[in-house]
Amino acid sequence: MATFFLLLFSLLFFSASAHIHYVARVTDNPADQLVAALNDNRTAKKESTLYDNPGLGCIALQYIKAYQGDCSVVGGDDAKKPFESQFADTFAPNCGVIASTLSQITGRLVACQSKYVEPSKAFSEILMKDSKSLEILHNKNHTEVGAAVTGTDGGAPYFWCVLFSNGTRNSSFTLGRRS
Ligand SMILES: *[C@@H]1O[C@H](CO)[C@@H](O)[C@H](O)[C@H]1NC(C)=O
Ligand SMILES: *[C@@H]1O[C@H](CO)[C@@H](O)[C@H](O)[C@H]1NC(C)=O
Ligand SMILES: *[C@@H]1O[C@H](CO)[C@@H](O)[C@H](O)[C@H]1NC(C)=O
Ligand SMILES: *[C@@H]1O[C@H](CO)[C@@H](O)[C@H](O)[C@H]1NC(C)=O
Repeated sequence: MATFFLLLFSLLFFSASAHIHYVARVTDNPADQLVAALNDNRTAKKESTLYDNPGLGCIALQYIKAYQGDCSVVGGDDAKKPFESQFADTFAPNCGVIASTLSQITGRLVACQSKYVEPSKAFSEILMKDSKSLEILHNKNHTEVGAAVTGTDGGAPYFWCVLFSNGTRNSSFTLGRRS
């Protein structure tokens, strides 16, 4: 189950100690549909289906939040990405992901635009817009994936983030018990 954060839709809400999570567990979750689209594209080429890791999905959401709603630095000449240290320092703790289970990120795709589009279109028209992205998608080293889709404050801009990992399914990005 990938993580989806978009206030336009009504979400199940819960808080855990000092931080707050918004988690949707619905089948029409755009992040899940995005994962389905990319897995279809992989399996059509006889590549493995990637495991949709919920811990990695939450980290993809944190990855988006690190942009603080600034669409202009996603891609293009001024492209920025969060510091690697943030995975261990903020993303994992915010998600309740056990630090020792953080695994290698083997690929990432991030896009942002002001218009919301269906997940299948976001996949083909936004995330897969060049051959480099297709190469990232079809990398044989990936074993799992986490995706997140957000609209800042319930509206534009819309961020799409897909993180790939070569971690093993039962021992990577493991969610610990919340206290
Ligand atoms: C995979 O996605 C790319 C980019 O959208 C598309 O060009 C290609 O036709 C897709 N491949 C399959 C087998 O669906
Ligand atoms: C897959 O992983 C191996 C070992 O880490 C690395 O040498 C290789 O370049 C990777 N392949 C791709 C397509 O990234
Ligand atoms: C994942 O990839 C990294 C870097 O390519 C490599 O060092 C590591 O051994 C790989 N892990 C697994 C579980 O394949
Ligand atoms: C993880 O899964 C593998 C293969 O499915 C299994 O061999 C291994 O014992 C499992 N590890 C844990 C810690 O559950």
